Amino acid sequence: MSVFPKDFLWGGATAANQYEGGWNEGGRGMTESDCSSSGSIKSLRSVTYRLPDGTAGSCPMFAPLPEGAKLDVVEGEYYPYHDAVDFYHRHSEDIALLGEMGIKLFRMSIAWSRIFPTGVETEPNQEGLDFYHTVFAELREQGIEPLVTLCHYDTPLYIEQELGGWENRETIGLFDRFARCVMSEYKDEVRYWLTFNEINSPLMMPSFLPNYPAAKMRSNFQVLHNQFVASARAVKFAHEVREDAMVGCMLAGRCSYPFTCDPADIINNLQGKQEALFYAGDTMVRGAYPSYARRLWQAWDVELNTEPSDFEDLAAGCVDMVTFSYYSSSTSTTHTDVERASGNFSSGAKNPYLQYSQWGWSIDPTGLRYFLNELYDRYQKPLMVVENGLGAKDVLEEDGSVHDPYRIEYMREHVRAMGESLADGVDLIGYTPWGIIDLVSASTGQMAKRYGFVYVDRDDEGNGTFDRYRKDSFFWYQKAIASCGEDLD
Ligand code: BG6
Repeated sequence: MSVFPKDFLWGGATAANQYEGGWNEGGRGMTESDCSSSGSIKSLRSVTYRLPDGTAGSCPMFAPLPEGAKLDVVEGEYYPYHDAVDFYHRHSEDIALLGEMGIKLFRMSIAWSRIFPTGVETEPNQEGLDFYHTVFAELREQGIEPLVTLCHYDTPLYIEQELGGWENRETIGLFDRFARCVMSEYKDEVRYWLTFNEINSPLMMPSFLPNYPAAKMRSNFQVLHNQFVASARAVKFAHEVREDAMVGCMLAGRCSYPFTCDPADIINNLQGKQEALFYAGDTMVRGAYPSYARRLWQAWDVELNTEPSDFEDLAAGCVDMVTFSYYSSSTSTTHTDVERASGNFSSGAKNPYLQYSQWGWSIDPTGLRYFLNELYDRYQKPLMVVENGLGAKDVLEEDGSVHDPYRIEYMREHVRAMGESLADGVDLIGYTPWGIIDLVSASTGQMAKRYGFVYVDRDDEGNGTFDRYRKDSFFWYQKAIASCGEDLD
């Protein structure tokens, strides 16, 4: 008998900016990611801007813009998110494919700028609201529950650029308006919500990008504080409009091992996890900052700008579940004579016991079991793996087939690892593999880095028909779901 419970939520995951397209349709406003051009395996994506005198330029993502520059779309540049993979026009076809696969839960995000184009409007954009009503109705017809992320790296550009983004407390109120609007509007259609995608990722930056400025890190603590408060208010409101709502935090799954048994590495790993993972998880699950926060603030010279009501909000808005992305594990070490490897917002010494993907991310299914146990021991809340998968190059054959045994192998071992964690006693309730239908990579802007069980005909230069093709992994997942995780061959 399968170790997966009958009501296990087998699913798939996407996010509006990487999947939807229709960037300037239906009254949608702009987001920062609309100004991101594409990158490659070797170089980060760039963002384009305009100077006050009208001159256009570009600089690497995460780097500071020149004085006076404003992000903008520049003629002659290619922006992969503008059309993404065109879910905006192909939602019916995609949802039918998801139904055919047999999934029960579809992770998607609502593009904030489709509902409030600049973020500061007082009334929502009806066309945006209608679009998601249509999507939810089509999902319901297929017996699929939506799992909706409120903010997946797509705060409206106006807020980011003119108001100072999440560092400004005013953004808490603007998000509040957005969250209340969509949570009331869709209360009969959506039970599962996530507030901020990979909310801990800003605190992972120093270990990911060498020479990350300390001033930027200081402001990231304020960004997170404001997001914690905004998230807690949304959790509370979700339960006011719908008693059985399940709202989760969403963490970038920083599963890291000490590289050696040198005690210095053990402490280094522990502190790295406190800062880049548990600081967010602990605050959102327990409703208060953890005891080690003070030391972190001192280390980064952080003085949080808070109000007394923030702490009441945090305590009143503890999440109902803990969700996370998991692609690979990393190692941390104080030793410098090591070969290095990177992953999703992470980097560390290369683990000699693991294989690495074409994009250099480690492949570690056992790490998923370990991480699930670690989170469950700590939080004792239902868990969901809401992103997992292998970014790999696929070949579309003449007859429309795509043979992706490497992906099946990766998924099989990760599903087995989840099964082991269930047997360990972990309360794992759902699994939504990332980019279930191919979409644009967040880090590189490529289409070549594909995660899906459905192939989308689109390349890195914007050529292709957007036609969809079932990969071999599509049929594998269909069988895995139908047998509730029993038949993984
Ligand atoms: C996570 C994000 O960081 O990893 C997704 O939540 C992203 O948006 C995913 O796409 C995989 O990363 P990448 O860079 O391979 O697309």
